[in-house]
Order: sequence, then C-alpha cells, then structure tokens
Amino acid sequence: MANTASLKIDDKSYELPIITGVEDEVALDISKLRGMSGAITLDPGYKNTGSCSSAITFLDGEKGILRYRGYAIEELAEKADFLEVAFLLIFGELPTKEQYQKFHADIKKQSIVDEDVKKILDAFPKSAHPMGVLSSLTSALTSFNPSSVNVNSEEDMYRAIVKILGKFPVLVAWTLRKKQGLPLDYGDDDLGYVQNILKMMFKSPSGEYKQNKILIEALDKLLILHADHEQNCSTSTVRIVGSSHAGLFASISAGISALWGPLHGGANQAVLEMLEAIKADGGDTKKYMAKAKDKDDPFRLMGFGHRVYKNFDPRAKIIKKAADEVLGDLGVEDPILDIAKGLEKEALEDQYFVDRKLYPNVDFYSGIIYRAMDIPTEMFTVMFALGRLPGWIAQWREMRLNKEPIGRPRQLYVGSPSRSFVPMENR
Ligand code: CMC
Repeated sequence: MANTASLKIDDKSYELPIITGVEDEVALDISKLRGMSGAITLDPGYKNTGSCSSAITFLDGEKGILRYRGYAIEELAEKADFLEVAFLLIFGELPTKEQYQKFHADIKKQSIVDEDVKKILDAFPKSAHPMGVLSSLTSALTSFNPSSVNVNSEEDMYRAIVKILGKFPVLVAWTLRKKQGLPLDYGDDDLGYVQNILKMMFKSPSGEYKQNKILIEALDKLLILHADHEQNCSTSTVRIVGSSHAGLFASISAGISALWGPLHGGANQAVLEMLEAIKADGGDTKKYMAKAKDKDDPFRLMGFGHRVYKNFDPRAKIIKKAADEVLGDLGVEDPILDIAKGLEKEALEDQYFVDRKLYPNVDFYSGIIYRAMDIPTEMFTVMFALGRLPGWIAQWREMRLNKEPIGRPRQLYVGSPSRSFVPMENR
C-alpha cells in the first residue's frame, strides 16, 4: 500500500500519511489537515474516526473477532478468571502467580470505603436508579481520596487503580443492598475477587453466604465478556474526561453515566423489560418484530444491532450458550428465554434485519443469566459497569502513559451569522 493518500481541495493537493495497524487496518492521518488546508473532517457519531492508537483490544466487526491483548475472547472466557483478565487488560500481559497474588492483595488492602460515603448513599431516594447512584458514589470517591487525582508517575497510577478495583465492588454491593433495605457491610479477604462480589451482594444479615460454583463461573464469564470493547461510547468518555487530567475516579464516574443509556449498556435492562412486555402481551413476537421495522414507531428490538459488529457479536454467542447452561445447572425454567430464542430466530430470518446486518449483541442474553442469578433488573447495567471497569482503567492508563493531548473535537458552525444585540423592548 502507498504511504500517503492525496486529498484535493480546489486546485490544491494535500498528502495524508497512511498508517496501518498490526491487523492491517488502514487509517489516514489527518492530524495536520487543518493546519495545511484550513479544512476539518466531519463525522457525526465518529463512524469513520479513530480517536487514538491503542494496544489493548482488537475487534473485527465483519469477521466477529474480539481479542484482549491478542488473546481470543472465547479462550479467555473459558480459561481465565476476571481478575486475571483485568491484569491482562491493564498491564498488557497475563499475570504470573506472584503478580496475580500481589495484585489481589493490593486491591484487598484498598477495599475499605470511608464510612461517610454511606451518608451520601442514605440521601438518595429508594427509587433512585442504581446507575445514577453508582456514578455519584464513584465521583464522590475523588473527594475521599484526593491523592488519586494528580497522578504523576506509574506508581501513583497503580495506587489509584487498585483503589478503584477495591472500592468499586463495595459501592456496587452497597447500592444493591440499600435498594433492598439490607445492612451495608464488607466482604471477606479470604475469598476470590468474584466470590467476594457475590458474597457482598447476597449475604443475608442473619446467615452464612454459601458460595455456588455455577454462579461464580457464570459471573466470571459475564464480567470477562464485558471487560473491554475498545473505543465504545463509555470508554471514549473515560478517555476524553481523563484527557483533561480530571483523575481516574471522575473519569470512571463519567463512563458510568455514558454506559447507562439504553443504546449502550442500558440495553441489558431494556432487553429484559422488552421480553417481559412481550410475555405480558401474550408472547406475540411477530407484533414486536413489526413494531421494530416500522419507521413511524420508535420501538427498536433491544439487544439487536451493533455499531461495529456487522456479522455477529462473538460475546453474544458465548452468552447464549452460557444462558442455556446456567439456567439448566440452576434448574431455572424461564419462559423469557424461549421468547428470546423465538425472537432471535425470527429476526435472523427477516429481510429487514438481514439487510441491515442486525444480529443479537452481548446484551440480548446477559439479562436472562443475571435474572437467574437473582440480580434485580435495575442492577443489570451496574453489572456491566463492574465488568467494564478494568477496560476503562486500561484505556485511561494507556491514554495517560501515551501523554495524549486533551480531547477537543472541532465543529462545523451552522448557526446564525453575526448580528447585533436587540434590547428586550424591541424584540
Ligand atoms: N431494531 C430495529 N432496527 C434497528 C435496530 C434495532 N435494534 N438497530 C438498528 N436498526 C436499524 C436502524 O433503524 C437503521 O435503519 P435504516 O438504515 O433503515 O435507517 C439501521 O438499522 C442502522 O442503524 P443505526 O442506528 O444507524 O446504527 P448505529 O450503528 O448508529 O447503532 C445501535 C447501533 C447498537 C445503537 C443500534 O443497533 C441500536 O439502537 N440497537 C438497540 C440497542 C442495543 O441493543 N444496544 C446495545 C449495543 S451492544 C452493547 C454495548 O456496546 O453497550
């Protein structure tokens, strides 16, 4: 391939360097375009815009490939645990046993949350959505840990990273328990990272929490599948907020808010609500297929379609299989799973969905597993956030280590031309 691409504007020609990635992806470097020509590029939704170079996650939407640091998602979901994958994403290599133990020990040491955070939690109405609560509490961590804001060395970064990995699951568990009117407490340092999360969420105030291997494996898998997805909406948010050197916790709080939306992580809650609505309406999937295709109807088939995957979402394949296994192992029979499968079958055979390359995404089946695990629907997106945390951290760290400039897109102004102020009495 040539080293440059030519761009012609009027009678002037500009050479744009061509950069290729390790998987032969091609990018035109337009970083000097405005300086050379005065022109900018316009790309709403960033459908054609790379915001950074990254060595963390590779995905090929046409071939349905997803790899973290070079390792296939299928292999990681099968063989690794979530903390191992978190280390891999953040630091670039799978941990040795010693590295893993030290990492976990450092996280555990940082898992205590200031008691005053409970007062903030108490101030929320019971009806507050857990994602709003979690975003606020994560932001509040900055005030309780001011030394984590200005990170000037890799050691500072490491301290901030283990702090958030330690405290975030506590905030998640507290958010759930507060909603359920249960006492807020901590986990158990003798447990694995994921086991501890389950215990913190579900232990009854009056009894022992018995670990269930099926639940541990299911949660490990779901968190791994959600752990990173390159420059998606929430991750780009984390990178752009972090690019102002706002600090890790503030950046992650912003990422949580971005994830909340139903077009992004909020889709897992929306999928379950949609499946419930279809069930309550008599299970007529055809009616909802017709609604999804009707351009005058705002309804969309939640859990379908993806900005990047135009073949299939490899995570959805793994989750669909896991949903069958987990429900089978737990002995749960959920009519919602049958509705989901019926809807998927119809959509995959429907010309509208075929033409637009709309396939089930990661969120289509994940809610069914969370429900079988007794996680309330409103907490589904919080579980996504828990899984995405290492990805957000890895991307934030990479951005800081690469000394990326502050994110500040340009715009094309289409408002009123210059005009004079009109006093109120003359308007
Ligand atoms: N149901 C019905 N039609 C759809 C759907 C859907 N779920 N998704 C896309 N379309 C249609 C859309 O109407 C458009 O049709 P036309 O070309 O006739 O105007 C075409 O497909 C392209 O859609 P788009 O909105 O331009 O595509 P996008 O890349 O901007 O949006 C998406 C991607 C994920 C936001 C969208 O597919 C969607 O809203 N899906 C439902 C929400 C969802 O499941 N989100 C989770 C995404 S995966 C997890 C994550 O990353 O957070």
